[in-house]
Amino acid sequence: MCLALVTLGFCIVLISPKVVQAAFQFKHHNNEELATILEDVHSRCPNITKVYALSENSVAGNPLLLIEFSGEPGYHELLEPEFKYIANMHGNEVLGRELLLKMADYLCEQYMAGNESIRSLIHVTRIHLMPSMNPDGWEMATAAGGDNYLIGRANNNSVDLNRDFPDLDRLLYSEEEERTVRNNHLMDQIRHLDHPPQPETLAVMRMIMEQPFVASANLHGGDLVANYPYDESRDKDGSIESLSPDDDTFRHLALSYSKLHPRMSDPNQPSCDDTSSGFGKQGGITNGAAWYSVEGGMQDFNYLSSNDFEITLELGCEKYPKTERLAQEWEDNKDALINLIWQSHIGVKGEVKDAVTGRPLVNAIITTRNVTRINETHARKDLIKHDITSAQGGDYWRLLTKGEYEITASVRNYLPLTKRVLVTNPHHEPAFIVNFELQSATNQGQRTWVNS
Ligand SMILES: *[C@@H]1O[C@H](CO)[C@@H](O)[C@H](O)[C@H]1NC(C)=O
Ligand SMILES: *[C@@H]1O[C@H](CO)[C@@H](O)[C@H](O)[C@H]1NC(C)=O
Ligand SMILES: *[C@@H]1O[C@H](CO)[C@@H](O)[C@H](O)[C@H]1NC(C)=O
Ligand SMILES: *[C@@H]1O[C@H](CO)[C@@H](O)[C@H](O)[C@H]1NC(C)=O
Ligand SMILES: *[C@@H]1O[C@H](CO)[C@@H](O)[C@H](O)[C@H]1NC(C)=O
Ligand SMILES: [Zn+2]
Repeated sequence: MCLALVTLGFCIVLISPKVVQAAFQFKHHNNEELATILEDVHSRCPNITKVYALSENSVAGNPLLLIEFSGEPGYHELLEPEFKYIANMHGNEVLGRELLLKMADYLCEQYMAGNESIRSLIHVTRIHLMPSMNPDGWEMATAAGGDNYLIGRANNNSVDLNRDFPDLDRLLYSEEEERTVRNNHLMDQIRHLDHPPQPETLAVMRMIMEQPFVASANLHGGDLVANYPYDESRDKDGSIESLSPDDDTFRHLALSYSKLHPRMSDPNQPSCDDTSSGFGKQGGITNGAAWYSVEGGMQDFNYLSSNDFEITLELGCEKYPKTERLAQEWEDNKDALINLIWQSHIGVKGEVKDAVTGRPLVNAIITTRNVTRINETHARKDLIKHDITSAQGGDYWRLLTKGEYEITASVRNYLPLTKRVLVTNPHHEPAFIVNFELQSATNQGQRTWVNS
């Protein structure tokens, strides 16, 4: 192989092919090439990346690989929000897979080139990219020649992975009727699953529940729209708009993507099936259930089982675009993909600690009231009925749109503390910090002795 330096008029021949770091090529990369690209990016950017596999392999034995970008890869840094992109969950929807591979290449390249905005993004955010959740389906779809509506959609056990997650929406909706609502971390209330999840689903469920993700997106194809919770309809018999308590925040997340995509939010963009007007007329976003109801999907599972706010991105009408389209698709999606990662920094974040010992308080409950809405509507209170909990370091992230809020931190056996904050969400900057130091409710007035 010859790497020609044309201007110098000579040729460098590299003996070992392992040393060759070929420029990224837009094409449909198979599962081995996918792994090679991630390893290659890691070898170019070893101090900001880590390649890892989830706990389970796919049914046909392919590893489920991710690459992480962070100032300290492999570790959760206190107060640093975690973001994830998962693509190719439907094996025949392949654009997201190629976009995430290119994104890994781009983040590494720009970081090394000293691009300040990429450097600051990576220094303040822990970013996880999973190019394929369904590598077996990708192989089926590709063997069948690509763009087929169904072949390769499911995993190797013929299960649609985006219908395979525990249905937490139904549990939530039944509790809403009985007025016993607790609408976060609902897996705590599940005693047994009605079906064993597929290995791909199980691996991702574990990741969602073990890592303190703050925001994420699931990349699909077949339409052009940013879709937000809930995906499952409140009405069992029909698809009706089914909003979550964080509807304003979810719309903001979806718009952060659609507005930066040249076609998604264009009102003149025709719909994929030509029978209705496109989503562009509504800004390129839709409530999931208003479109069609999905039971057992990954998006709602994130919101109802963890602190993660996930949206679903439909990246285009064609599920398996031709190779020649890929470079343009990257140009069209690049800024939107990066802008959405920055949205893991909206709202407030902070640490919850014991006021005396400074010990971090894990699983503290962060409750939010919307003061701006109270003032506008003269309501007595406007509780956002979705609490967030603090992570292992006592750190929490509460995504919020602009406005004034009352944030309360509560922990059993401590006195709750409420703070009022004005959220301004400056462009592409870390969230405003609001810390809570809680007084013990049981040891009031007692001296706390620390063993020496
Ligand atoms: C990683 O290495 C690059 C280039 O050697 C250096 O500029 C950068 O500061 C390092 N980053 C971290 C997080 O150590
Ligand atoms: C740095 O990265 C940002 C975000 O992708 C991009 O908009 C900008 O053009 C890059 N700057 C340079 C000099 O390439
Ligand atoms: C499972 O994968 C094998 C190839 O590894 C393929 O021959 C078979 O048709 C697949 N089955 C399904 C249901 O996808
Ligand atoms: C809302 O009303 C409270 C109490 O009257 C006041 O302190 C606060 O500044 C108001 N906030 C906004 C955003 O108008
Ligand atoms: C709070 O209320 C204001 C006024 O209605 C709204 O603009 C804002 O998006 C709300 N915040 C959230 C997180 O719902
Ligand atoms: Zn899909």
